[in-house]
Amino acid sequence: MKIKNDLLLRAATGVVIERVPVWMMRQAGRILPQYRALRAKAGSFKNVVKDPSLACEVTLQPVDELGVDAAIIFSDILVISEAMNLNYEIIEKKGVFFEETVATKKDVEQLKVVNDLEEIGYTIEAIKLVKQELGDKIPLIGFAGCPWTLFAYMTEGKGSKTFAKARTMLYQTPEVAHELLAMITQSTIFYLKEQIKAGVDIVQIFDSHAGILSPALFHTFALPYIREICEAITEVPIIVFAKGVGYAMEELNSLPCQVLGLDWTMSPQLVRNQIGMEKSLQGNLDPCLLYANPAYIQKATASMLNAFGHQKHIANLGHGLEPTTPLDGIKCFIDTVKAYEYVAS
Ligand code: CP3
Repeated sequence: MKIKNDLLLRAATGVVIERVPVWMMRQAGRILPQYRALRAKAGSFKNVVKDPSLACEVTLQPVDELGVDAAIIFSDILVISEAMNLNYEIIEKKGVFFEETVATKKDVEQLKVVNDLEEIGYTIEAIKLVKQELGDKIPLIGFAGCPWTLFAYMTEGKGSKTFAKARTMLYQTPEVAHELLAMITQSTIFYLKEQIKAGVDIVQIFDSHAGILSPALFHTFALPYIREICEAITEVPIIVFAKGVGYAMEELNSLPCQVLGLDWTMSPQLVRNQIGMEKSLQGNLDPCLLYANPAYIQKATASMLNAFGHQKHIANLGHGLEPTTPLDGIKCFIDTVKAYEYVAS
């Protein structure tokens, strides 16, 4: 099916666009009062994720409300850990919690590589429903966590500023770490391929905690698995978002992916100078900037757009929306991107 508004897909693959597309990481969910009401009724976040018709509804909420150029399927990166046999919980106001964690070779042997729909079928069903509802309006983004970020949660057991336990494991038992990372990678490839079969038009992989690794660890324990995923997914374009690794842009540029996501600490011009024009770039307004006044948001958004240039760019934030972001700030950002006229340089 030819998508009517395919700006995102064209920007991702380097086809000329008349306007830069815009969507936001974490656009589906807590920022919208409609979502909070729906979650309260459903009882929990996981109940929403596991009910395809509710997940579909939440995916579509920001589409009309905010006018974004793409939808992202409502799910979580942690569904893969659960499908591998390690249950997660999201505790209100506290975040991620795993009752059991992975520490030893024996623990790794208790896990399975995901190779059937049994444990992930709910998200696949939700994708099919969303595609039916969206029709040919805008593209649907599928996603997964990168192996290192999933490894970090599965070994640490919760969110952490340093993920010291996870990092320690990389030094103490590197072969066990590689074994777990390889299993996550295989599961993720299966999961993404199922998402694509169900209809997603593009996928993003999130390495949200790449930035807590030393360059050497990133090179050994994160990048090779990202590469394996990129090599396996040839059906649709891939966006690789590795947060906090501005130093690794050249290595990331060597991946067989179409788009690199930049966080808000990275300079679009410096990255372009460093890696050239081959890849498209996504990002990278500081999500906290959306709490500023409209004039400030407009100015900062305009300067970001100019810094990227008007081809091969997908406007986004430098990481996910903060839960309490005012809707006015969000709408101001989106409207500014859509109305922007580039200054010739
Ligand atoms: O529009 C969207 O992006 C919604 C779909 C989505 C969620 N999580 C829903 C969610 C996506 C793409 C994610 C990705 C995700 N999940 C990442 C990568 C992106 C990032 O922010 O770095 C990570 C690291 C996770 C793990 C995770 N899930 C955490 C740390 C938490 C708790 C803290 C938090 O952000 O709330 C979650 C729970 C979660 N996932 C919520 C939502 C809407 C909040 C729970 C709720 O609303 O009930």
